[in-house]
Amino acid sequence: MKPISLTRFLIEEQRSRRQITPDLRLLIEVVARACKHISLAISKGELGGVLGNAEAYNVQGEAQKKLDVLSNEILLEANEWGGHLAALASEEMEAPHLIPHRFPKGNYLLVFDPLDGSSNIDVNISVGTIFSVLRCPEGVTEPTAEHFLQPGVEQVAAGYTVYGPSTLLVLTTGSGVHQFTLDREIGSFVLTQRNLRIPEDTSEFAINMSNQRHWEAPMQRYVQELLDGKTGPRGRDFNMRWVASMVADVHRIMTRGGVFYYPVDAKTREKGGRLRLLYEASPMAFLVEQAGGAATDGRQRLLERKPEALHQRVPVFLGSKNEVERVTALHREHD
Ligand code: AHG
Ligand code: MN
Ligand code: MN
Ligand code: MN
Repeated sequence: MKPISLTRFLIEEQRSRRQITPDLRLLIEVVARACKHISLAISKGELGGVLGNAEAYNVQGEAQKKLDVLSNEILLEANEWGGHLAALASEEMEAPHLIPHRFPKGNYLLVFDPLDGSSNIDVNISVGTIFSVLRCPEGVTEPTAEHFLQPGVEQVAAGYTVYGPSTLLVLTTGSGVHQFTLDREIGSFVLTQRNLRIPEDTSEFAINMSNQRHWEAPMQRYVQELLDGKTGPRGRDFNMRWVASMVADVHRIMTRGGVFYYPVDAKTREKGGRLRLLYEASPMAFLVEQAGGAATDGRQRLLERKPEALHQRVPVFLGSKNEVERVTALHREHD
């Protein structure tokens, strides 16, 4: 069979499902094009002069890497002039970015983590981009942060790219999750997996174990049971993987199952957690649910959480359904 490009895939989806409008198709293509650009910059590594710190801090108080700043600029520039967006928001910008008056405005809002896993960039480990698409509320021409504060169930599309040994784009528009691989010679994303499915059970978990002593009691108990293995209450051995790039950890789960947890701990309690709801937790929760997995904040379905602020943080539990339901039940019992 002839390879199916992202463009053809989206046009065929647009024909068969009216939820995909021409503007949404353009938006996804523009994001994909920007991600090709980011992929190219990353692949040059030291030779491109793109590694290291940018000598600036973002609103989260994190030291920005040069590639955090560059990826943000690439996504902004690519999306400003197409007429498909009303505004954009990003991990690297304190407030939403409005479309300059010289360009037409569209009806969508785009939220992104331009470079996820940036602590891994200087050591040549996979990083990625995460994005989420929302509708701009009707009648709003100058969106503010408040208009972005929509629960994840309102997303019309979400996706991530992984800049790894190959560059992948994983996408949902609400009818399954599909994977595209960047063909560098042709310069386009090609459909390589339709309908990714996450197995309901797993024996593999991803968590930053160095935070163990700071976790809440149900989390301590749950992970201890995993570590006890065959002779413990779970009656089988569990394996651990932790890349520390959420995109790479989630992509492993999309490929062969597993769970990814970033629980609240004593260090992050005041902020609500480590990961950000709008541009990390929510899009990943949409993708994971579309692939048959589950995603909660330990108590509640992540997609139902209404954000209170643009950069709000939340605990994240996602992946193979039965395992996520188990850890969520333990937290609920404890409350
Ligand atoms: P970002 O690089 O966009 O700030 O996100 C980093 C996130 C996520 O990718 C990863 O799972 C987590 O931070 C790792 O954090 P720690 O190394 O602090 O545990
Ligand atoms: Mn960051
Ligand atoms: Mn991130
Ligand atoms: Mn980031």
